[in-house]
Amino acid sequence: MDHFKYRDRELYAEDVPVSKIAAAAGTPAYVYSKATFLDHYTKIAKAFAAVPNVICYSVKANSSLAILAVLNKAGAGFDIVSGGELFRVQKIGAPMNKVVFAGVGKSDEEIAAALKANILMFNVESEAELENIERVAATLKREGDLKEPARVAIRVNPDVDPKTHAYITTGKKDTKFGIDLGRAADLIAAAKKLPNVQIAGIHAHIGSQITEVTPYRESLGKVVDFIRSARTKEAPLQYLNSGGGFGIHYQDQAAPPAEKYAEVIVPMVKNSGCTLLLEPGRFISGNSGILLTKVLYTKRGVDKNFLIVDAGMNDLVRPSLYGSFHEIWPAKSATQPPTRGGSTPDAASVAKVDVVGPICESGDFLAKDRALPKNLGRGDVLAVFSAGAYGFVMAGNYNSRPLLPEVVVDGAKFHVVNKRQSYEELVARETVPEALL
Ligand SMILES: Cc1ncc(COP(=O)(O)O)c(C=O)c1O
Repeated sequence: MDHFKYRDRELYAEDVPVSKIAAAAGTPAYVYSKATFLDHYTKIAKAFAAVPNVICYSVKANSSLAILAVLNKAGAGFDIVSGGELFRVQKIGAPMNKVVFAGVGKSDEEIAAALKANILMFNVESEAELENIERVAATLKREGDLKEPARVAIRVNPDVDPKTHAYITTGKKDTKFGIDLGRAADLIAAAKKLPNVQIAGIHAHIGSQITEVTPYRESLGKVVDFIRSARTKEAPLQYLNSGGGFGIHYQDQAAPPAEKYAEVIVPMVKNSGCTLLLEPGRFISGNSGILLTKVLYTKRGVDKNFLIVDAGMNDLVRPSLYGSFHEIWPAKSATQPPTRGGSTPDAASVAKVDVVGPICESGDFLAKDRALPKNLGRGDVLAVFSAGAYGFVMAGNYNSRPLLPEVVVDGAKFHVVNKRQSYEELVARETVPEALL
């Protein structure tokens, strides 16, 4: 369920017409619905309530401080992948005993900061990283800065095909992620000898936008067998972290509800005797946000027509990067977009266009050959749906375009929680040394 619905020919975010937000915040702009974030979080919390768990929202999907604060208040923990994300969750006062830290390339500084913060655990991706965590922890201990030994989960690579886009496939053996199950036992044996490291669990994140439950069954089957065979007094393996990856609706209604994933995962976790850690990102945030953009120009090409809008690949890179589909529909329209439960508009009222941004790259598009109402023109506001995950967090300044604002709607109110970057801010960290000239 999301709270972006048409009422009386107008798109609303909760109880606010999005055209009102476009007028106040300008375009392009990201708009999030607080109620939708909470609804999606609660769906997961309810579905997995039958086993002890910590739901660590994956900060990388949408790291707005306001959103993190809302989820923190609802009881979520956090999955982080950088010192910057650690800073964010500290900034909102999140309890550190619900924070897990993943990623293949943690720097010494990031490891030290997380150890000082005493996070719940690191998801360790290699032998070299494990040794480095021990080394950093030992240094901190000497300096009197280590509160407790570093808790770690070994991230295993179960070599399972999650049946998703290659760029977001992480659980196959040819990716850079995790350690193959054959070597994981050796790593645990090595870890037992490290005085400042405690083996707390096993982690397996196999990919993102996974819309079938079978890959979880396959992956966790291997993981649970491994846990049962590898568990000892010194390595109690009390946590099973199944990562994130739950899929969402973009174009069709193919993504299963949270209970379907739980039906597979919960019995396996029970069988393992572990506490479950989950790292959902997209499931919570994807359909909790839209991107608002305005039509600048309509343009006739030789073979196709274009709608040139004010949002580019620097604002939402997913279509360019993954060829991903985002429903696009005018904010003022008689119907909901066809793939979001609206009726299919009659063929005479729509025409196929490429929706493209202002950036100087042919890869700068939001949609290709998309049937959109024919009467669209300059100034019309369009909503790009399902943009709450991997949207703003991947935005950049290419073409010296300022970062766009983020707005959170809460019932009949909305708040600009991240202002549009100014041109001065765009160059604020730069200098032109006299000596260069
Ligand atoms: C380790 C890890 N956990 C969780 C996630 C979140 O995935 P999703 O947004 O598909 O739930 C990712 C995404 O890349 C990840 O790498």
